[in-house]
Amino acid sequence: MPVITEIEDLRRIYKRRVPKMFYDYCESGSWSEQTFRENLSDFEQIYLRQRVAIDMTGRSTASQMIGQDVAMPVALAPVGMTGMQHADGEIHAARAAGKFGVPYCLSTMSICSIEDVAENTDAPFWLQVYTMKDDDYTQRLFDRARAAKCSAAVITVDLQMLGQRHKDIKNGLSAPPKLTAKSIADMSWRVPWGLEMLRTKRRFFGNIVGHAKGVGDASSLSDWTHHNFDQGLNWDRIREFRRMWDGPLIIKGIMDPRDALEACNVGADAIVVSNHGGRQLDGALSSIRALGPIMDAVGDRIEVHLDSGVRSGQDVLKALAMGAKGCWIGRAYVYGLGAMGERGVSEALRVIHKELDVSMGLCGRTDVRALDRDILMIPRGFSGDWED
Ligand code: GLV
Repeated sequence: MPVITEIEDLRRIYKRRVPKMFYDYCESGSWSEQTFRENLSDFEQIYLRQRVAIDMTGRSTASQMIGQDVAMPVALAPVGMTGMQHADGEIHAARAAGKFGVPYCLSTMSICSIEDVAENTDAPFWLQVYTMKDDDYTQRLFDRARAAKCSAAVITVDLQMLGQRHKDIKNGLSAPPKLTAKSIADMSWRVPWGLEMLRTKRRFFGNIVGHAKGVGDASSLSDWTHHNFDQGLNWDRIREFRRMWDGPLIIKGIMDPRDALEACNVGADAIVVSNHGGRQLDGALSSIRALGPIMDAVGDRIEVHLDSGVRSGQDVLKALAMGAKGCWIGRAYVYGLGAMGERGVSEALRVIHKELDVSMGLCGRTDVRALDRDILMIPRGFSGDWED
């Protein structure tokens, strides 16, 4: 077992182990990738205020997200095609999350189905749902989630159409991969990945193939997504989705205070400030810059989480101190999953937990639920001073 001290260690192993097509899928932003890059670099502009000679014993990272107990306020974000990063990847990730005591959110675009994950894990998980035109399909997703005892639904509102990721087009990304000279060459030397993939039967989009009308195989899938994602989405439609699901609801993909205020009126339990990991609107602000004005606008009206760019416990600490009740990680755990399956996801969580715990202590704080902006030095104008 290699010594893992930071998330970057996992990314390096992941890159060697997984076919380039899937590494690129994970590690891309849309178009020029400006937002993808700034999601990370903007965290570095915020400094932590070091304090000394303050009793830092008895620290706790335990908290709650949407009223559910968590060992630390970090959820595993929905990531499409996780089961292509490692065979049965969604099950591995959900198991690691369950053992650690943090929420796992399954993507609708997963390889393992809702039922696969429910049957192979113990802890309840969250289900992410896109905003689609086909209400029958969406209602069935919610019904399946209820039957699987999912403890929250997450509606992604920032993907009415797909931001272009150049590499996915050039790589001819699909699940399972189409067999071309390039993809065969790519996969043939990822031997452990390939052997594990051959051992599992889960290689298609498990929530779609066989569930959505007219989708019997992967080749009709891109067509299905293109035609089914609802470009006509509005807040009334989101209220209709709210009526389809009576459990806890989270709205993911909010970047503007006006949209955050709209989300407060939908009856959601939380919003996630997210630019989809820089994969949708290139040129959008980083999520950490967007967080402050959204917190100021919504106050205590709704629980706010942050996603996009979180790669360390220090990032989590900064977002929490700015007022977020929790953070979501995507790539940070996918690196671990691709590197070494469930154990790698556990490693990613261990690394982030330790960074959060020790950094919180070095800021003179002992309770993750009682953080505030006083531990931060935020540059003037960080959240922008824009022309109207
Ligand atoms: C899907 O949500 C993606 O970002 O690829």
